[in-house]
Amino acid sequence: MKKEWIALATASLLLPCVAQADAAADMQALADKNGCFACHGMQSKVVGPGFAEVAAKYKGDGQAAERLGRKIRDGGKGVWGPVPMPSHGNLGEADARKLAEWVLSAG
Ligand code: HEC
Repeated sequence: MKKEWIALATASLLLPCVAQADAAADMQALADKNGCFACHGMQSKVVGPGFAEVAAKYKGDGQAAERLGRKIRDGGKGVWGPVPMPSHGNLGEADARKLAEWVLSAG
C-alpha cells in the first residue's frame, strides 16, 4: 500500500515536468519552422545572439517579452551589433510573443 502511494506521488510530481518538456519541444519546433536557428544558437552567437545570452541580458526585465515579441515580428538592429534581424511578419502576434517568452526562459 505504502509503495503504491509513493509511486503515485512520484508520478504526479513527474507529470508537470513531462508536460513542460513537451511545451519546450513545441517551441523548439516553432523556432525551427520559422528559421530562427539559421541565425541563432541556443547557447552561442551565430549571426544573432545565442538565446541563452538574450535570456541573461533581460533577466528580471518584466517588459522584455512584449518588446522582444514585437522585435521578432518587426525586425531591428543596434542592440547586439550592426547586423539587423529581418522582420518575421508572417508570424502571428501570439506566436511571436510565445517565442519571445521561450527565448527568455532559455539558458
Ligand atoms: C537572418 C538572421 C536572423 C533570423 C532568421 C532571426 N534572427 Fe533574431 N536576431 C538576429 C540578429 C542579427 C539579432 C541582433 C539584432 C540587434 O543587434 O538588435 C537578433 C536578435 C534577436 C533577439 C534579441 C533582440 C534584442 O533586442 O535584444 C531575439 C529575442 C531574437 N533575435 C529572436 C529570434 C527568433 C525567435 C527568430 C525566429 C522567428 C529569429 N530571431 C530569427 C538575426 C536573426
